[in-house]
Amino acid sequence: MSSPAILVENVTVHYGEVLALDAASLTLDTARICGLIGMNGSGKSTLFKVIMGMIKPDAGRVLINGESPAKARKEGGIGYVPQSEDVDWQFPLSVRDVVMMGRYGHQGFTRRPSKADRAAVELALDRVELSEFANRQIGQLSGGQKKRAFVARGIAQGATMMLLDEPFAGVDKRSEATITRLLRELASDGCTILISTHDLHALPQLCDEAVLLMRKVLMHGPPELVLQPENLAMAFGLDVLNRDLPDEDLPDEDAPDPSGAGRQVQDFSNHQGRN
Ligand SMILES: Nc1ncnc2c1ncn2[C@@H]1O[C@H](COP(=O)(O)OP(=O)(O)O)[C@@H](O)[C@H]1O
Ligand SMILES: [Mg+2]
Repeated sequence: MSSPAILVENVTVHYGEVLALDAASLTLDTARICGLIGMNGSGKSTLFKVIMGMIKPDAGRVLINGESPAKARKEGGIGYVPQSEDVDWQFPLSVRDVVMMGRYGHQGFTRRPSKADRAAVELALDRVELSEFANRQIGQLSGGQKKRAFVARGIAQGATMMLLDEPFAGVDKRSEATITRLLRELASDGCTILISTHDLHALPQLCDEAVLLMRKVLMHGPPELVLQPENLAMAFGLDVLNRDLPDEDLPDEDAPDPSGAGRQVQDFSNHQGRN
């Protein structure tokens, strides 16, 4: 039986005293688009970094197509669109340079781009509709254009998995529509996609499945089910579909669970049981 695209098993991560992930588990099959939702501080970015192999978990394990994240990354399989806060926008790189970074794994020791590298970069720039901005310094783009530049990096890389950390935050409608369309195209080509978002209304059109995160995976299933008010209340503590998202830290760990439903994982995803 083939391995899942992403396997996260009982992963715990601390930053000093802060518990960011608490025995989180998630299985995602190839070519699925999975939406990751949870309030600020619920561990979404940490989960991405653990899957990327940028953070080593204190406990548990992560496998990408049955391999270690380090190996998967080295093979160029994982494209990553970081949240804006994690990027140094002053860095003296043009948009084209950023996309060319996706080709590093294809280049030799000298990192001299080949004709094929250049062609792949131009094609990726065209797909995200950024060709005319290719020479601009990356920080001189709008929020949505910056996100598209990183999506282009993943495309140029030939990534079979894309991790997108809040790609719609502070993004114009055109960029959101372009990114959504591209993700659909990539998934139909076999790319596995994990995407965190606060845009709950767009979730059913965007994703095949959704995950509710609050240090652990509270629920995993079809977007319509995950978006049920009683399920959102587990992760957000209120009816977020009718109100602005809370922009505050997690409740005290010892505070009572607002739903009374406890913290058991509810897994309604349709991946084949592999346990
Ligand atoms: N580098 C860090 N050092 C210390 N604490 C951190 C660091 N990164 C994240 N945290 C903390 O870990 C928790 C989870 O953060 P994060 O994964 O960024 O959540 P999210 O992306 O859902 O907002 C939060 O309490 C956050 O303050
Ligand atoms: Mg984050």
